[in-house]
Amino acid sequence: MPFNTELTRRLGIRVPVVQGGMQWVGYAVLASAVSNAGGLGILTALTQPTPEDLRSEIRKCRSLTPNPFGVNITLLPSLNPPDYTAYANICIEEGIKIVETAGNSPGPVIQLLKDNGVTILHKCTTIRHAQSAVKLGVDFLSIDGFECAGHVGESDITNFILLSRARQSLKVPFIASGGFADGQGLAAALALGAEGINMGTRFMCTIEAPIHHNIKQAIVEAQETDTELVLRRWRNTTRLFKNKVTDEVREVEKGSQEGKFEEVAPLVSGKRGREVFVNGDKDFGVWTAGQVIGLIHDVPTCEELVGRIEREAMEALQNMRSLWREDSPSKGMARASKL
Ligand SMILES: Cc1cc2nc3c(=O)[nH]c(=O)nc-3n(C[C@H](O)[C@H](O)[C@H](O)COP(=O)(O)O)c2cc1C
Repeated sequence: MPFNTELTRRLGIRVPVVQGGMQWVGYAVLASAVSNAGGLGILTALTQPTPEDLRSEIRKCRSLTPNPFGVNITLLPSLNPPDYTAYANICIEEGIKIVETAGNSPGPVIQLLKDNGVTILHKCTTIRHAQSAVKLGVDFLSIDGFECAGHVGESDITNFILLSRARQSLKVPFIASGGFADGQGLAAALALGAEGINMGTRFMCTIEAPIHHNIKQAIVEAQETDTELVLRRWRNTTRLFKNKVTDEVREVEKGSQEGKFEEVAPLVSGKRGREVFVNGDKDFGVWTAGQVIGLIHDVPTCEELVGRIEREAMEALQNMRSLWREDSPSKGMARASKL
């Protein structure tokens, strides 16, 4: 029986699983594989050096899947910000119907996309930010708990609290992001009120993820304790795979008298991180991963992974029915009288 949630209905997908934007990972080969498997694949706009390159990548993705896919636009503070409007305009021109936004001051980009009929899935790590995004008119929120890979925010609230807060206080449908790898996780997210899940790290560890196999193997061998939080001193806390470079970053961050970002900048350089995915040396630079690495034990195809999540979630939801007795309608009262 296919899923029937606000996410599957509105996005036209079979399984309520989204592959979140991933810098240097979210290319057409991965996004199309996720969409072909029944989830929502997402291209990462800034992985493309120019807006015109994004246009080519969108066309490539479209040639690889007949199913819906989206584009992630991440707005990060930068001295030389990319031309976000140009990337958004390419999405509109190419007929992209779903954009995942993330990061700071997304208002103008969201407005432009909304004016052109694009569905917005906005990712945030606090209820306060989610409420601001609701005012901007976003269609879905993607609630990213403290477990997640990458920018975790500064309030350190894990998904057990964050998702229920979202259910209690948001009037816009939301999906759960951070810490998901299997169908039991999807079933739990649905029980907490989410319309689906978003996964990053789990999709990095699939056959189609365009990164070196050694990195996938490093994830398979890792435990949930093998991530590191860095850059808290600069209020830009980021969860990364723990390695020799994150150890160095932590040393500088703790030990530095002046606390100038320039002291860690060469260590956290995106260029070195990108190289890790190409040369397969997990200690060459910093790279993003979530605590969910402790739940990842194989490197399946996206088809196998999404199919497995679908089956496991269905089974988990059905098994829950055996947790109460159909023959005892007054169970609640019986229990109350025992107390
Ligand atoms: C390698 C990698 C790169 C990422 N890059 C981005 C990015 O550029 N923009 C963004 O919004 N999120 C990015 N993320 C976060 C994911 O979209 C997603 O929110 C997160 O991975 C969810 O947590 P999980 O890894 O536990 O599933 C990245 C995640 C990973 C693993």
